Amino acid sequence: MSILSKNRFTVTSALPYANGPLHIGHLAGAYIPGDIFVRFLRLNHKDVVYVCGSDEHGAAITIKAKKEGVTPKQIIDKYNSQIKESFEEFGIGFDMYHRTSEPIHHELSQEFFLNLYKKDEFIEKVSEQYYDEEFNQFLADRYIIGTCPHCHNEGAYGDQCEKCGTSLNPTDLINPKSTLSGKSPILKETKHWYLPLDKYQPWLEKWLIEGKKDELKSNVFGQCQSWLKSGLQPRSMTRDLDWGVDVPLEEAKGKKLYVWLDAPIGYISATKQWALDNGKNWESYWKTQEDPRDDSTLIHFIGKDNIVFHCIIFPAILHAHGGYILPDNVPANEFLNLEGEKLSTSRNHAVWLHEYLEEFPGKQDELRYVLTSILPETSDSEFTWKDFQARVNNELVAIFGNFVNRVMVLSHKYFAGTVQIGSALTPADTDVLAELASFPKHIEQSLSQYRFREALSHFMNLARLGNKYLADEEPWKVYKQDPERVKTVLYVASQIVANLAVLAQAFLPKTAEKLFAMLNITPMMWDLAGNADIIPQQHILGQAQLLFEKITDEQVIFQLEKLARAKLTNAADSKPVAPLKGNVSYDEFMTMDIRVGTIIEAEKVAKTKKLLRLQIDTGIDQRTVVSGIAEYFNAEEIVGKQVSILVNLEPREIKGITSQGMILMAEDADGRLDFVSPNTGIKVGSSVR
Ligand code: 2FM
Ligand code: ZN
Repeated sequence: MSILSKNRFTVTSALPYANGPLHIGHLAGAYIPGDIFVRFLRLNHKDVVYVCGSDEHGAAITIKAKKEGVTPKQIIDKYNSQIKESFEEFGIGFDMYHRTSEPIHHELSQEFFLNLYKKDEFIEKVSEQYYDEEFNQFLADRYIIGTCPHCHNEGAYGDQCEKCGTSLNPTDLINPKSTLSGKSPILKETKHWYLPLDKYQPWLEKWLIEGKKDELKSNVFGQCQSWLKSGLQPRSMTRDLDWGVDVPLEEAKGKKLYVWLDAPIGYISATKQWALDNGKNWESYWKTQEDPRDDSTLIHFIGKDNIVFHCIIFPAILHAHGGYILPDNVPANEFLNLEGEKLSTSRNHAVWLHEYLEEFPGKQDELRYVLTSILPETSDSEFTWKDFQARVNNELVAIFGNFVNRVMVLSHKYFAGTVQIGSALTPADTDVLAELASFPKHIEQSLSQYRFREALSHFMNLARLGNKYLADEEPWKVYKQDPERVKTVLYVASQIVANLAVLAQAFLPKTAEKLFAMLNITPMMWDLAGNADIIPQQHILGQAQLLFEKITDEQVIFQLEKLARAKLTNAADSKPVAPLKGNVSYDEFMTMDIRVGTIIEAEKVAKTKKLLRLQIDTGIDQRTVVSGIAEYFNAEEIVGKQVSILVNLEPREIKGITSQGMILMAEDADGRLDFVSPNTGIKVGSSVR
């Protein structure tokens, strides 16, 4: 059944965290597909609300604020404006771009929580949770990092492993560490309110697995199936944090709602705000209606890391609350890579939208086109600048732009821009017009199944059809002998251009606008039955404009060098400095007896790779120290060297040798070692303080 059999749609794209700018991975994940889909629905007369907004709570925000030394509010204000502007520039046509920091959102999130609380849906549980003693803070979600128990990724977060997508609890992590102090956390008791996902498992299996197996994309279905297979666990809906929506319970003072409870409710509060601003009824886009056939169709566009939240947790919340529609589909995309590597905000390996807009002014549709051609619809895909150049130059410029330009130029040159049928249509003409009429339907079929790449390639095939038609009919050659034939050829060709304009509205909104201006016609909706006579006879075309320009080699080189520079800077900056250790008292420090000593003998410890046996003159005595530096220093080279030695360290047996003290070494992030030595030579036995 075509998606167009439904009439009302509620479409959402994931709320981006307002903790950094957007890059091409964001566009390719949730926003270009969402925008194309909504444009397609609107072009087919559907009633649609398309909402998004900034996700302004959770550790993603507070961690960034801490890093930049500013308040969370400063962070969200800064990035919300920047993100909103990027979306506008790229023509992502939200009806409402909202913010989860708005009071209307806080109220609605609290209403959801209280609704479930009053229905006794939550399990209240006091449990031991990780706590950073140095920072006096519980470590929720992204404040804790460790090894994923499923895929052994060492950088998994307390709420999710981004490598394998598994949703986690902090206590699932192997070898957990606080991201604040870098230390192993302790466990401390705290009370939280849990959503019993295990209780909803049978319902989820029926609704999602049985009910949606034919509709969901295979990547989405696969993930859902594997979560349900491993068995759902209760998930805490509250957090010990100081930034977010307050838990609306007296006994939970100081606690906040879990960001993944409040964020998806952000779709609803955004719709509420839009309805208030536009005299609409938000409930008809979110609430179940008396006649289920009147329910709005809810579609979430997201990236693959958000699947569990949109297919399992949020539906469970909506189901538990009652009265709300559930997602019809969640066409999640996989990830986009860049030049052979994962896109990475922290490593600055990205194409940032605000930078692209400065470096390629007016070329938003070029990026939309290329990203749509390579959307990671079923598996991860790859953006490279060379491929960007090739697709713009060989497809947009050479096929699409060239066809439109030839029609415009020839029509003005021969007939002052007037469109008219001269001699009667030939079979070649009627064939082309018949084929032309089939394009909207093909594109509709692809888009209805969320196959955006395929839809775009149909669209480009229409431009190819136009080029072939001109190449076959050669109006520039025929004109001299048979201008009446050329009138007809350009009439047919103008109908192709007009169809390109109509269909381009879904994919390339700025280009479509230009085309309508060039054709001198007003934008129009799609006609799935096809429309091969959009331009009436005697219509006068507008002026030709340049649709697309070639991307030069210099532009590509500039971008590649920029990525290479980012890599170098990153390499220089990324040496993690060990986190600060806890304070020691002055007295404690003074208990350490560190002296300047001289290495008087050195030899490798037999059958070891790393160990050297050193004989040190400490000024007090001559003693043996075993040191793990053999991979960095040759024994013979270090004899005579002055070093710092902790002389009152308890003796230790190492490989059968009693080691009496420790040589102080400096070690960088790459594990390179050097001695901590006096610069100028100083009397052996001098104290180091
Ligand atoms: O992963 C993210 O970037 C989240 N901010 C997405 C939230 S989507 C929604 F549920 F609000
Ligand atoms: Zn994992």
